[in-house]
Amino acid sequence: MDSQHLLVSFLLFLFTFNSFQMIANGSQPSAKLYIVYLGERRHEDPNLVTSSHHDLLSSLLGSKEDALRSIVYSYRHGFSGFAAMLTDSQAQQMRELPEVISIKVSSSVELHTTRSWDYLGLSYDQHQPMGLLQRGTFGEDIIIGVVDSGIWPESKSFNDYGYGPIPSRWKGTCETGQNFTMNNCNRKIIGARWYARGVNASYLNVDYKSPRDYSGHGTHTASTAAGSFVSNTSFYGLGVGTARGGAPHARLAIYKACWGGAIRCPEAALLKAIDDAVHDGVDILSLSLGARFFQSFVTIHAVAKGITVIFSAGNDGPLPQTISNDLPWVITVGASTIDRSFPTIITLGNNQKLVGQSFYHTSDDGSNSTELLLIRSCSTAELNSTNIAGKIVVCADSLFAPGDIPSGAGDASRSMSQVVNSLIEAQAEGVIFARSPIGLLQDYRRFIYLLVDNDVMLQIKEYIQLSDTSSPTAMISPANNIVGSRVMSPRVAAFSSRGPSLDYPDLIKPDITAPGVSILAARFNSYYFLSGTSMACPHVTGVAALLKAAHPEWSPAAIKSALVTTAYTTNAYGFPIEADGVPRKLADPFDFGGGHINPNRALDPGLIYDVDPNDYFKFFNCTSDASNCDLVDAHLYHLNLPSISISDLKTSVTVKRTVTNVGDTDTIYRAIVESPPGVKISVEPSVLKFNAFNKVQTFALTFTSLHAVQGDFNFGSLTWSDGGRHLVRIPLAVRVTIQDYFSDTS
Ligand SMILES: *[C@@H]1O[C@H](CO)[C@@H](O)[C@H](O)[C@H]1NC(C)=O
Ligand SMILES: *[C@@H]1O[C@H](CO)[C@@H](O)[C@H](O)[C@H]1NC(C)=O
Ligand SMILES: *[C@@H]1O[C@H](CO)[C@@H](O)[C@H](O)[C@H]1NC(C)=O
Ligand SMILES: *[C@@H]1O[C@H](CO)[C@@H](O)[C@H](O)[C@H]1NC(C)=O
Ligand SMILES: *[C@@H]1O[C@H](CO)[C@@H](O)[C@H](O)[C@H]1NC(C)=O
Ligand SMILES: *[C@@H]1O[C@H](CO)[C@@H](O)[C@H](O)[C@H]1NC(C)=O
Repeated sequence: MDSQHLLVSFLLFLFTFNSFQMIANGSQPSAKLYIVYLGERRHEDPNLVTSSHHDLLSSLLGSKEDALRSIVYSYRHGFSGFAAMLTDSQAQQMRELPEVISIKVSSSVELHTTRSWDYLGLSYDQHQPMGLLQRGTFGEDIIIGVVDSGIWPESKSFNDYGYGPIPSRWKGTCETGQNFTMNNCNRKIIGARWYARGVNASYLNVDYKSPRDYSGHGTHTASTAAGSFVSNTSFYGLGVGTARGGAPHARLAIYKACWGGAIRCPEAALLKAIDDAVHDGVDILSLSLGARFFQSFVTIHAVAKGITVIFSAGNDGPLPQTISNDLPWVITVGASTIDRSFPTIITLGNNQKLVGQSFYHTSDDGSNSTELLLIRSCSTAELNSTNIAGKIVVCADSLFAPGDIPSGAGDASRSMSQVVNSLIEAQAEGVIFARSPIGLLQDYRRFIYLLVDNDVMLQIKEYIQLSDTSSPTAMISPANNIVGSRVMSPRVAAFSSRGPSLDYPDLIKPDITAPGVSILAARFNSYYFLSGTSMACPHVTGVAALLKAAHPEWSPAAIKSALVTTAYTTNAYGFPIEADGVPRKLADPFDFGGGHINPNRALDPGLIYDVDPNDYFKFFNCTSDASNCDLVDAHLYHLNLPSISISDLKTSVTVKRTVTNVGDTDTIYRAIVESPPGVKISVEPSVLKFNAFNKVQTFALTFTSLHAVQGDFNFGSLTWSDGGRHLVRIPLAVRVTIQDYFSDTS
């Protein structure tokens, strides 16, 4: 039963944002864990940075001893700051010190493959010597930092057979602890650290006091990004194939900052993990976690030091304005489906065969004929009043009354898991649900969890109602697994969090989507399906590692630009990509940013929208503190991102962009504009000529509203075409705001 509960809680990977307070030994009872941010560090020597923290705390608390007792973490590599136990009044005094930029209570953040890499065109078997996988040398010598729940080092996915020596620039370490020795690090897992200070004891107590992964989440994400080749893996025969990460030869540096079965990550610990990762020399940081208000400064310093930071978008879709980790300098990844499906045959007592979807697996040929029991709503009261032991319950009606649509896909999955839990408790054999547009497949071991289309549900209902024998029955065969072009994909997953951003309306987020539904990857010593933007994030991490290996000189902004401008927005049949939800709709940039990731094209994007990290700081300074703002116009659409969102177009706005040619030296690009309805866009110049001397060109886009009407966001695109293989496309979002009183949010 325990393991059942565990599965339910982390199949969802919902982030809820819970502020929690920690009482440390010896501090005053009302003290809370605060994070103090002091900006760029003032000393090269990290020990001097830390002693400056001790001095600052001593001056406030009165003695060095009190300072040492109060401090929990000192941040000294990526930026200067610390976490310390302080009372509210001490925090208030601290806030007033001139060197303090911000001070905030540390809150707690929750965490958010065989087929998916072939689906992305990164096939190992195919002969494509010029493909990204080969050109990126499988990610050899790229170091990926994974901040998550730790690692299960015995998994075959972390075998280091055939690896060369650890890159000499690596400055990290292998910290040992409970069930984790130096031998658990190798040439694949080149570093491992853990952060237990500031963590609530109720999460800590159940977990390994070491980098070892208790929940399985960190092992899944790390193996998706960079797992070694492991042949013949499957989940009970489903999804069989060679498991591997996107960059199968990249090195992994593990930072365990997330704890317990519910997988909580205290911000103070996350910040320390990221700070150490900057010191250790990672190239890429993969963060399948987040919250709406995650402290943004830690990542801006990492990006300014050349580290590409990749975040999951959150699992709070399909409602708009649910996006997490919506920072201009990071890559924010939504989740999409792939071309794999799990048809499961249902044989009714009258021999009629119907098909649903499940992960159902059993060692024999199939289940025996089991009695079907029709229950309309499957409400708790209805389930409680019926004898359901040994039966397959048919939940014929939606779990949700009309007008009572769950606020997000997470809610829907939670309601379905609740029904499953009460059914398992009542010893039912299984359940059949009519598939809602936002339901996910889940594995409940021997308990049958089957989703069917509505017309199949009608046939099952008809059979049960017309059944003249006393008990209608069904036999459920183990699930099959089909892949390939017959499965319509990709679609943006219902749970994937959507823009626009609440904090930065002039920003298109997410940046991109990648596979995140029913992803098979390592967990403990086996392989397991999980869904979530947590699974999509490491797909982009793997691709970014290959891009970094192929183009070592590319900045984090260049890597993001290559990914966004080459993404696709229509599927293999030319249909526009859709976004699941209630109802399903055509995907727009607030669902998928530039579109779905297209790794092989990202290798050769033609043009790059690069960003000087100093520009990030200029905008950051303006959003964090108006008195510290040097910009005349601090609208985020002036930042040289590979997207433009104008949330308040009154009459006319001109936005500049600068592109760098990374393709053939002598080329001419022409602009192709797809204007949002009601907006006229002109591009000046509309032809860009590049040669050996002119590698960088700037152009201006002028947006003019055509109608004086209070509007909502409308979408378009700007594509630079060289007439050949390069189409460099960025998404545009514009909302016309005539009056200052009210405008639509999405
Ligand atoms: C630790 O977490 C538990 C369970 O979530 C909670 O009841 C408790 O108050 C927390 N302890 C502290 C000190 O915050
Ligand atoms: C952890 O170590 C203990 C003591 O050596 C051992 O009994 C236990 O089986 C180990 N657990 C795992 C998961 O390796
Ligand atoms: C793959 O694994 C299954 C079960 O683990 C085994 O029965 C089968 O023979 C293996 N196939 C190959 C080609 O190794
Ligand atoms: C089917 O019935 C046989 C004999 O009654 C039993 O041994 C077997 O475990 C049953 N299989 C399932 C999947 O319930
Ligand atoms: C379920 O039924 C039992 C008695 O049969 C009752 O005590 C319990 O309160 C009921 N629970 C619910 C949720 O209706
Ligand atoms: C941002 O503000 C900090 C002080 O808070 C200052 O040191 C830095 O130079 C500013 N950066 C830019 C680019 O304006």
